[in-house]
Amino acid sequence: MREDIRVGVFVCDCGSNIAGVVDVPQVVAYAKGLPNVAFVDEGRWSCSVDALSDMQESIKEHHLNRVVIASCTPRTHEPLFKRNVKEAGLNPYLLEFVSIREQVSWVHMNEPEMATDKAKDLVRMGVAKAVLLEEGEEIRLPVKQECLVIGGGVAGMTAALNVAQQGFDAIILEKEPHLGGILNKVTTVSHDQNEMAAADIVKAKVDLVETHPNITIYRNAAIEEIEGYIGNYKVTLKPNGDGPGEPLDISTIIVATGMKEIEPEGFYGYGTDPRVVTQLQLEELLRNAECRMPSGEFRMPNSECRIQDVVIINCVNSKNETRGCCNIGCPVSVKNALALKNLKNDIRVHILYRDLSMVKEEHFHLDAAKEAGVKFIRFPDDRYPEVTDESGRLCVRVHDILLGREFTIPSDLLVLTTAFKGDDTVDEIKGLLKVSASADGFFQEAHAKLGPVDFPADGISLCGCAKSPKNYRESCEEGIAAAMRVSIPMKNGYIEAEGIVADIDLTDCNNCGLCYKRCPYNAIKVVEEAEPAVIKALCKGCGLCAADCPKECITIVHYSDEQLLAQVEAALEEEADKKILGFVCHWCALGGVDMAGVSRLQYPPHARLIRVMCSARVPIRLIERGFELGAAGVLVAGCEFPTCHYITGNYACETRVKRAKKRLAKRGYDPEKLWNIWCSAADGPKFANTMREMATQLDLV
Ligand code: FES
Repeated sequence: MREDIRVGVFVCDCGSNIAGVVDVPQVVAYAKGLPNVAFVDEGRWSCSVDALSDMQESIKEHHLNRVVIASCTPRTHEPLFKRNVKEAGLNPYLLEFVSIREQVSWVHMNEPEMATDKAKDLVRMGVAKAVLLEEGEEIRLPVKQECLVIGGGVAGMTAALNVAQQGFDAIILEKEPHLGGILNKVTTVSHDQNEMAAADIVKAKVDLVETHPNITIYRNAAIEEIEGYIGNYKVTLKPNGDGPGEPLDISTIIVATGMKEIEPEGFYGYGTDPRVVTQLQLEELLRNAECRMPSGEFRMPNSECRIQDVVIINCVNSKNETRGCCNIGCPVSVKNALALKNLKNDIRVHILYRDLSMVKEEHFHLDAAKEAGVKFIRFPDDRYPEVTDESGRLCVRVHDILLGREFTIPSDLLVLTTAFKGDDTVDEIKGLLKVSASADGFFQEAHAKLGPVDFPADGISLCGCAKSPKNYRESCEEGIAAAMRVSIPMKNGYIEAEGIVADIDLTDCNNCGLCYKRCPYNAIKVVEEAEPAVIKALCKGCGLCAADCPKECITIVHYSDEQLLAQVEAALEEEADKKILGFVCHWCALGGVDMAGVSRLQYPPHARLIRVMCSARVPIRLIERGFELGAAGVLVAGCEFPTCHYITGNYACETRVKRAKKRLAKRGYDPEKLWNIWCSAADGPKFANTMREMATQLDLV
């Protein structure tokens, strides 16, 4: 028999943040009349220590078994309230959060009545879902102490050393015969105010990793297959490299695959004219003894002509509409210009740049280069230097933005500071690990600020140039950061994963295979014939499988179809034709909604938003239901491409929305009333504009 549901609703004033616009006593009175609501309270500051303690008392005193918090945003305060209800003896999955500050009072400041009506609707939607909530639990997985480091460059070696120094086992997998990565192609490294020989740095690191008892190194090694999840990876290596034949038992993984230069084919004669080289090729020339003439002059190999004029052009094939700043080009150009001057001071070196991006400590080298006589010319973004061959000599014509005039500089050697891309193995590794990478082959972190060295999957970290171009110090720092991240579960011996996961009811399942084919995490396996099963440790709860399952066999804990449907129906219970039903993903889209609120961007109050973890969770049937109930329009909002927090969720959503439009059209609904936007967490204006445009086009204003 279903328990007696007793919902407690706690409506926060947030000082005057909410109560200054919304008539909170009216919302409280309204909530008291909702079915299953046993207790309603208005709090001045619901997140204050006293209010939290009072809430615990109320939960106990009124035997509340569901709680709805109507206050700020779940993105910041949900964990706090979850902990609080847990301390009151309630399962934290029995809490529902309603945002009446970011979604109401801060964005409808001039329409208090409509804001109050919207707050009532949101509370009604929250209660409708809360009634259907079920207990959930975190999943605890054992984690042992072996870490695989993919890539033996400076970041990978630093990470492995840090892991090993903490007493865990580290296995370095290097595809080349030598450790050191891109540093093997570099002559010197600027560190603090010193120049260090890259070979010395590599040697020192290699000595440390080779002699550490907790570190095993496999060279010439490549991965054939990775199966499993945090604490339980089986990694099989390809047979033609070093390493054991049987799979390695691995608990955590650090990806440190490094980067390589993008050959600037087609730029300034690169690839056809040997006098045009990249920075890494210049480094090679600087190391090459053949390039030193007996007189001490610098020359190209197999040439008797000394190099007298060198022109360096920065930002070649980078910092454009295709890719951003390469991060390290400016300091590298300065370092190499200085190296040329140190080699022979009468070599004339010009650096042509758009903007010198150098951090404070690198200015020491910049000053040294200027002192040594390196000339700097700044050119406009839209007017790159031009290079011609004048009687067998390269001539570079550049417009000096500061002097406002053109110069022509002769050049014996033209050095292009070009962009970088991820290692060639990235495509293969991203498939094996089920993670994403940019078009240039750099792996994508879980979140630039909240998870800069994490992948969305637990137990896998990334560091160094696998993520973006880095200098030596940054690579070491990220190596340590990645090591610390994977060390936490190895030290604890376990990891707790959120209980928002998929659950399959096999009763109606016809084993169509969609769920396990589409899961971005490989979290659904066919255990036996016709029996897909969720590996809960791998499932992240995006809901893509549940939305796509044609038999509706899959549910997501805390975001079941039944719960979402209850919210849809509650949202459209009154005056549906004046409502925009919105589904927003918890991460970027809701972040954009919140940002609109924080920025006090005012927009029409027609939206009734339903939070899902990912836009992939929204099934066509819920969109259709919205129109059946008379919604003026429906919005599905997710993260911008390719930043979905569930790898490919937004791509799946985009495809589904297109299908939904076709189905709506067939059923006689106007497909143009279904909107789909992709929004970054910082893009409050985009969300606010969408609301304004929708309200206008749907004739709501
Ligand atoms: Fe935002 Fe997937 S998490 S669209």
